[in-house]
Amino acid sequence: MTIKIIQITDLHLNKNKEFMSHGINTFRSAKKIISEISAKERNVNCMVLSGDLADDGTSKAYENLSELLMEFSFPIYLMCGNHDSVENLKNICITKKLYYKNFISMNEWGVYMFNTKKNNSPNGILNESELVDFDQSINNIKYMMIFLHHHPISIGSESMDRMMVENSDELIARIKNQSKIRGVCWGHIHNEVNFKINNAKLFSTPSTCYQAKPKSKKFVIDYDACPGYRVIKLSKSGELETSVKRLDIKK
Ligand SMILES: [Fe+2]
Repeated sequence: MTIKIIQITDLHLNKNKEFMSHGINTFRSAKKIISEISAKERNVNCMVLSGDLADDGTSKAYENLSELLMEFSFPIYLMCGNHDSVENLKNICITKKLYYKNFISMNEWGVYMFNTKKNNSPNGILNESELVDFDQSINNIKYMMIFLHHHPISIGSESMDRMMVENSDELIARIKNQSKIRGVCWGHIHNEVNFKINNAKLFSTPSTCYQAKPKSKKFVIDYDACPGYRVIKLSKSGELETSVKRLDIKK
């Protein structure tokens, strides 16, 4: 049976639901994306939220998130980004369906979610303990899908590339050596890019709020690009199919 994962990323919620960032109300924008998923997507196995869930890291921002996710009945996995508070994020994982964990397995597939948040820095880092855990986890499954918040590969945008995973060579070496790794997915850069290394497709997902212009020297907002979410389908024989769905929230 095919596994269907929905990913959303970089919600940038605030304690104040009226909070605006780069001309967008982040709560309302996330709500529209979530309503779209709820209306359109069927047979979903789980959802992954790949970091920068809160812009301000406050408990109230995570309560707002919890409110948005109430309508779903499938398991939802929350990940940290540079803007998040790990402690406050974990505190909303008290309901049965919200989880904070590194590894889950579903049939032939494993899904590994790295916490790339580096303390007191916007940059990303892969922690040694998680890399060790990853190396053990991959032994027990046939195929692996990886999520992380920060990008592990240069995207050709000077300001964003300063904030990528500092020791991403650790991950790239594993992708090159392990044919089991079929997908690597991240947020953080607020736009979509695609790469391929060995058997793995590498890709990022647009934010649920403001978008960034690709390959720009500084962080420039792309006012023409719409927010979106990603659908990932993992087949029994190890194939990964994925697409981004965007939504014109101004309508
Ligand atoms: Fe980020």
